[in-house]
This record gives sequence, C-alpha cells and structure tokens, in this order.
Amino acid sequence: MTIWLNGALLDDAQARISVFDHGLTVGDGVFETVKVTGGMPFALTRHLRRLGTSAAGLGLPAPEPEVISAGVFAVLKASGNPDRARLRITVTGGESPLGSQRGRGPLTVVIALGELNDWGASCDAVTVPWLRNERGALTGIKTTSYAENVRALGYAAERGATEAIFANTHGNLCEGTGSNVFLVSGGELVTPPLTAGCLAGVTRALLLEWFGGVERDVPVAELGAASEAFLVSTTRDIQPIRAVDGAALPAAPGPVTRDAARTFAARAALSCDP
Ligand SMILES: Cc1ncc(COP(=O)(O)O)c(C=O)c1O
Repeated sequence: MTIWLNGALLDDAQARISVFDHGLTVGDGVFETVKVTGGMPFALTRHLRRLGTSAAGLGLPAPEPEVISAGVFAVLKASGNPDRARLRITVTGGESPLGSQRGRGPLTVVIALGELNDWGASCDAVTVPWLRNERGALTGIKTTSYAENVRALGYAAERGATEAIFANTHGNLCEGTGSNVFLVSGGELVTPPLTAGCLAGVTRALLLEWFGGVERDVPVAELGAASEAFLVSTTRDIQPIRAVDGAALPAAPGPVTRDAARTFAARAALSCDP
C-alpha cells in the first residue's frame, strides 16, 4: 500500500508519524473521505474545499489544494488506479507538546487508500442518548476528533443497527455518525439545515442541488414517523433506512428514496468532479 506522507510517497511500512503528533494526542486534525470509482476520485474539488474550511475552522493553516490534489493522484497511480476504493486525507497539527497547545512545526499530511465498504441495501438506525451541540467550536467541522461517533456507532451496533442518529440540543434531528439524514414527512422531502449542527455533507449538497428537498428543523421523533427516510454520505451514496429504534418504516426504499438514488447515480455518472 502506498501512502503519501508530507509530500513523499512511501510504502505503508515506512510511513510513520511522531508519537507526539497532535492528531494522535488530542485529535487536533481535519480529514476528508473521498470515494474512488473507476480509478478517479469523486467530487475532489468539493472535498478539498471542505478540507480548507475545516482547517480554517480549527485554526490550522490551510493545506494547498493543488498539493493535496497532486498527492491524491500520485497515490491513486501508485496503487494502480483502483476501480473502487476509499481515499482518506488527514491533516493534523503536527508534532506538538503534550496537552492542548499546538506546536509550531509543520502540519502532518497523510493520504491513504482503503477499502470502500459495502453498506448493504438498507440500514437500521438508532437514535442515541447523546446530543450534538449545534453551537460547539467544532460544529460542522470534519475533525479527527471522532471518538463521540465511535462511541455512538458502538451503541448502535450493540442494538443490531449500523448507524447512530444524533439529535441536537433543541431535540431536533442533526445527523448520523458518518451521514446526513433525509426523510419524507407530510409528503415532503426534508433534511436538517446546517444550523442544526450537521456536517455540510458533499452528498447532501449534491442531492439538494440535483433532486431538491426542503431544509428545515425536524423534531427527532419525526424520523421514526416518516413514510420513508434515507442516509447520504460519500461511502453510502443514498441508503434507505429500514427501521428507526427497532420500528420499521413503511418502505425502504420508498418511492422518493428510489427516485433520489436514481437521480443521484445518473448525475454522478456524468462527471467525477461535479
Ligand atoms: C458526521 C458526518 N456527517 C455527514 C457526513 C456525510 O458527508 P459526505 O457526504 O461529505 O461524506 C459524514 C461523512 O463521513 C460525517 O462524518
């Protein structure tokens, strides 16, 4: 496996970072997961833009999009331009003192490839007893501080589910651990607005552009009462939700989900960098 680490292409056995890296010690970093299909990264421009926004949100110097993009294509080439893969770009605060204070040295930048997992035809989701803070310092930033998501996904797995859904401090629907949520309620396709505290998902934005949908606050209980619902993300595209908290929704996929998935696939096939 070839890794791009701070500008060098290395075998994964040689790619090493410091035990004092601030990403490791305190989760001070940002990342992107990019889908690779047919040897090409999907929506790389949007992912690089969000990486820059996330870095700015965390007060990290913005990584040069051209440099990261060159790294992405170098890793893909060195790996034989795989047909299906998951590409991960990670930028951390670099070597730092122990504690929250960031060091003054260079950032750590890693580009790595992994397997694109198959999420299955539908998803069982559970709501979790922990809240997303829609007004937190890290709200809407794709940081490497994902332990809360790890915990929530573990909670979901203990209940036989594959995604955990967070409400925010107002009791409104926010997002999944690695996905945005859409539901059909009152005959209307709706998704929480970014002010609900969710990540500005690339898939969410593309679907809103290509298919439409209303952005409005949704009391979390509305999800379980939806006529249909689905998750969207880079690795899932559009995945129907079969059940919420153990109660099956009327259809998975329902007609709107099916249409949304069809539209998304057709539009995504037109360009790898929409
Ligand atoms: C917390 C969170 N919300 C939403 C998403 C979906 O975003 P995207 O469509 O850009 O993958 C992700 C992606 O992993 C995520 O981690």
